[in-house]
Amino acid sequence: MNNQLLAIGLTTLDIVARAIDQLPAAEGAVLIEGAACAPAGTAAACAMIASRLGLKAGLISAVGDDMTGRLVRHGLETEGVDVGRLAVLPGFPTSTTLLPIDSRGGRPVLHAPGAGSFTEVGPEDHAALAGAGFVHYGGIGGLKLDGGAGAAFLAAAKAVGAVVTCDLIAPQPSALAELERVLPHIDYFMPSAVEARGLTGLTDLSAAADRFIALGAKACIIKNGEEGALLAVDGAKIVVPAHVVEVVDTTSCGDSFCAGFIVGLSRGWTPLEACRLAAATAALVAQGLATFGRLIDFESTAAAMSLLPLREAA
Ligand SMILES: Nc1ncnc2c1ncn2[C@@H]1O[C@H](COP(=O)(O)OP(=O)(O)OP(=O)(O)O)[C@@H](O)[C@H]1O
Ligand SMILES: [Mg+2]
Repeated sequence: MNNQLLAIGLTTLDIVARAIDQLPAAEGAVLIEGAACAPAGTAAACAMIASRLGLKAGLISAVGDDMTGRLVRHGLETEGVDVGRLAVLPGFPTSTTLLPIDSRGGRPVLHAPGAGSFTEVGPEDHAALAGAGFVHYGGIGGLKLDGGAGAAFLAAAKAVGAVVTCDLIAPQPSALAELERVLPHIDYFMPSAVEARGLTGLTDLSAAADRFIALGAKACIIKNGEEGALLAVDGAKIVVPAHVVEVVDTTSCGDSFCAGFIVGLSRGWTPLEACRLAAATAALVAQGLATFGRLIDFESTAAAMSLLPLREAA
């Protein structure tokens, strides 16, 4: 069976631990509340979470030929993600991120780049587009994707009728040139508020969404942490509130929001309904450590849409 979702871009191993307010001096040791590791990254986290929510998902990405890469592949496989297009790059480490979460939920990021930055698309990947209803692009900044290859892949995705979504990760100023290339092929551009403001220089999120739409995106969803998300679609702007939850760790909230949104659309829901499923998905992820947090399946996530209280719009 073809994959309903193809996610392309970064794959990492996330190693999350809390609560870490300061490191022990020298070689001192302390006990902490908990730690977890899981496959993550803009492409892999979205594919893995969508798979847990019942969508058949495949991944186009790369890991190194190290133990971390084998762990990541195994984790993705056990979650039902098609890793047939997950390349193993000899001599490369697998991209890895350390996230020492503090007691207030603050999340410093220490990233060791690796194979994930060298994801590329070949003819087999173009062939894999057949039958994919959704393509999620987390490849901006990719050394082999920026400059034309990523945009050509998304143009091919549109040509076969796929819905194309796109998220960013730590974009450099150079991402703006790449965005001009890819946005005309993107149906839903889904940056975070920090990324949207950083790239446009605009503080107003509504104006930032308009800028991305002017650059070619058909619609824009700006994720804004506990403030929720701004959906700009068909000329309308709607704030989708976040849920009120006991936050343990917001790692992968952005990726899980994207996955929940795609799953909602795949069920024929409107963009607004899909954003509400996305907010519930992220709220469950925020309640536990690492990529999944407390996310279980589609049914319990759909139920959480009405069970979890919503934060009042500020
Ligand atoms: N503290 C929180 N409480 C409840 N929901 C949250 C919280 N933080 C994030 N979310 C939910 O997750 C969504 C996405 O989170 P966020 O805006 O942090 O994305 P992001 O910056 O892209 O994240 P990431 O760093 O994982 O890429 C929000 O729109 C909201 O629905
Ligand atoms: Mg993000």
